[in-house]
Amino acid sequence: MEKLNGKKKIRVSVFISGRGTNLKSLINFSKKKNSPIKIVLVITNNKKAKGIYYAKKNKIKSLFINYKNKNKAETKILIILKKYKINLICLAGFMKILSKQIISKYKCRILNIHPSLLPKYKGLNTHKRVLKNKEKFTGCTVHIVNLRLDSGKIILQKTVKVLRKDDESSLSRRVLKVENLIYPRAVKKFISSNL
Ligand code: GRF
Repeated sequence: MEKLNGKKKIRVSVFISGRGTNLKSLINFSKKKNSPIKIVLVITNNKKAKGIYYAKKNKIKSLFINYKNKNKAETKILIILKKYKINLICLAGFMKILSKQIISKYKCRILNIHPSLLPKYKGLNTHKRVLKNKEKFTGCTVHIVNLRLDSGKIILQKTVKVLRKDDESSLSRRVLKVENLIYPRAVKKFISSNL
């Protein structure tokens, strides 16, 4: 992919599977004066993803991709990303693992947000495992996506204290608030040093 002229807005596609609070926070960031990004496309593997609402509300194109056949789905995604001239992909609660086909094409152009202090607690059910291990701190991380799950270079991370009274839902709620805060910051930081 071409190196971008600093003045051009980075064309972003956000991939979601559900609620979409991180999408919402990225949309709000994109609407700010001098924001470096323009969100042009939301992709989802879930027709019923609540987050699609935020795309519609903001007149952002959203597309459902049927993931029954992953290879076909990814081939289709690649064609669409090209059509919409996407420079950066932000995964925001996208519950499918991208394969080499997409990751190598968009090398160092895919970000993900994960609800733990990576490299700790990769994968699913992070809050449950954090509580089980009686961790005093957890947090969230925005990182570059590479071929190994939740293992790419860390862009930004923020710590959240685990409270004694926390259960999975209270902890995930507090971490999510911080996620919504750091994702735009991480995108800004990533763009200023990489694109
Ligand atoms: C977030 O906790 C994110 O870290 C994880 O999935 C959740 C998505 O939340 N990957 P939302 O759909 O952005 O509200």
